[in-house]
Amino acid sequence: MSKAIPSLKVLFTGNEKKYIQDNIGRVLDSGYLTLGRYTKEFEDNFKKISGTKCALAVNSGTTALEIIFRILDVDRRDVLIPSNTNFATAIAAVNAGARPIFYDGDAFPNLKSIERKITPKTKVIVVVHIGGYICENIFEIKKLCIKRGIFLVEDAAHAHGSEINGVAAGSIGDFGAFSFFPTKVITTCEGGMIVASNNEFIQKAAIYRDQGKDESGIRNILPGNSWRMSEIEAVVGLAQLKNFHKDTKHRREIIDLYYKELNKLPISFPKTSCKPSGYKVIISVKNEKEATGLKTFLKEQAISTGKGVYDIPLHLQPVFKKFNKSKLPISEKFSKIHICLPIWRFMKKQEVKRVCDVIKLFYSR
Ligand SMILES: Cc1ncc(COP(=O)(O)O)c(C=O)c1O
Repeated sequence: MSKAIPSLKVLFTGNEKKYIQDNIGRVLDSGYLTLGRYTKEFEDNFKKISGTKCALAVNSGTTALEIIFRILDVDRRDVLIPSNTNFATAIAAVNAGARPIFYDGDAFPNLKSIERKITPKTKVIVVVHIGGYICENIFEIKKLCIKRGIFLVEDAAHAHGSEINGVAAGSIGDFGAFSFFPTKVITTCEGGMIVASNNEFIQKAAIYRDQGKDESGIRNILPGNSWRMSEIEAVVGLAQLKNFHKDTKHRREIIDLYYKELNKLPISFPKTSCKPSGYKVIISVKNEKEATGLKTFLKEQAISTGKGVYDIPLHLQPVFKKFNKSKLPISEKFSKIHICLPIWRFMKKQEVKRVCDVIKLFYSR
């Protein structure tokens, strides 16, 4: 049997490992283990990727979202959230006191569903760039938000370096949140980033990040938390930034190759003109039976497809049951018929070809 192909690999180059080892040594020798020069350098470099004036590193993507929601004062207000997203998007809003209102969609938001769910209580609409793909109608959603006086928050946890019409993920809405969880295209082991072009907002976020303390360092003026990123995590993130553009180009070539090899089959890729981050390669098939059959067939050939984005829509998750007011048929269908194909940083083109050959074999039987 051919070598197994996992759904993803978390990899570092030799140079990156050397940079990490050397600089963790420097961090330990300096005695500054948190909120030091590496975190600042990571933030300064990351804002070039998000295309925003400011960036603030925190301890997770979930925290990045929660701080944004707290600053926007969503308490007892509604936050519109796609049902097809990670638990984090909704729990961050709930923890900030909001009621999550789930809207429908597949890989992309359904605009009609969003419009139907807006009420005078709506404070924020969240768009999640699922798998690193930005939806074609993001600027229409932005216009709608401006017209209705609603904030647009981008959950860009998957979308480091994604862009549409030359605009980077994170700089389209009012505020953006990124994750550096190990599976993401840049990782700090655990970590997140808040991005915005509003400096006052970021200064407030910095207060939330460090136990709500003002510049005196002794007065707690906001209900913050210990939400800091450590210097060691910032070093791990910085190490990958040097190769980021090369990596993104490679990931996009992988996606293009999948598309070229598979576009004659009865499957579909997300339809968008965006340049994705390459976090995920998402395909949709005819129905659940076909999706299960294809995943099993791939597994028999030692090819793993891992988890979907996402297998259970949030409005059906037990923890959010009390907020579930309606059926969301597009999300429910999408959760059953999509598959994420293998992709990682240094995936070889022969590995993509092998995955594609197995998929072609599945459809030729
Ligand atoms: C869409 C989305 N938002 C937010 C998060 C939360 O990020 P973290 O795990 O860094 O808290 C994730 C995590 O994978 C995610 O997929």
